Amino acid sequence: MDENRIPLHIGLIMDGNGRWAKKRLMPRSYGHNAGMNAMIKIAEHAQNLGVKYLTVYTLSTENLLRPEEELEGLYALFRKYFKKNLQKLYNSGAGVKVIGDVSVLPEDVQVLLRDGENNSPKDAAFTLIFAINYGARSEILRACNLAVERGEKLDGSGLDAYLYTHGVPDPDLIIRTGGEKRLSNFLLYQAAYSELYFTDVLFPDFDEAELDKAIAEYSKRERRFGKI
Ligand code: IPE
Ligand code: IPE
Ligand code: MG
Repeated sequence: MDENRIPLHIGLIMDGNGRWAKKRLMPRSYGHNAGMNAMIKIAEHAQNLGVKYLTVYTLSTENLLRPEEELEGLYALFRKYFKKNLQKLYNSGAGVKVIGDVSVLPEDVQVLLRDGENNSPKDAAFTLIFAINYGARSEILRACNLAVERGEKLDGSGLDAYLYTHGVPDPDLIIRTGGEKRLSNFLLYQAAYSELYFTDVLFPDFDEAELDKAIAEYSKRERRFGKI
């Protein structure tokens, strides 16, 4: 693999957990659990390849309308991940960041997420960014309102400072698993020039070799950014 063509920032829309479970006649929560295991392996692999930021779309603002039972299962997974997996990440020089409106999550989950961020190394070589109750439209509205509150008229890349992703470069590559070809409210502003990669592989089956395939495809793309 051409090391010069490793994306600095990958966005990952982890879709297909429910269908993966359904195929096995199992409840959706079984798929989400398998999805979390896949995410852990993908994050490790991305870090080893030299990717600096991996943003995982974990829960959208629209997903919050799903049945309470499914949401509770997802919150239980967040608890499990943030209690069990962070030390290993920190030890490898990596950290976590959370984007989205987490104020609606159970209080203890909010504490875990906040501590996870605060205890992350300041100069992390790799940052795993969790998009939780994240929606690009709310993010942009929030950013505009913050600027208005401060009486600031924005121009150029002025909005960047007010986005959740402040300080993080735009995603070079966005991968969506699960067969749908849409962004579903993920990083709409930041994705202006992202390369998009769609695969039918359901997220729990998305492994290291699948990530290599996506990056290999990315490395062949010519990014023109409007120039000739
Ligand atoms: C993605 O998998 C994970 C979340 C949205 C939380 P889905 O739960 O959307 O799985 P499908 O699309 O129903 O298969
Ligand atoms: C996108 O998947 C959200 C996440 C992966 C967290 P959805 O399953 O919610 O997307 P739609 O509903 O198919 O667009
Ligand atoms: Mg889905």
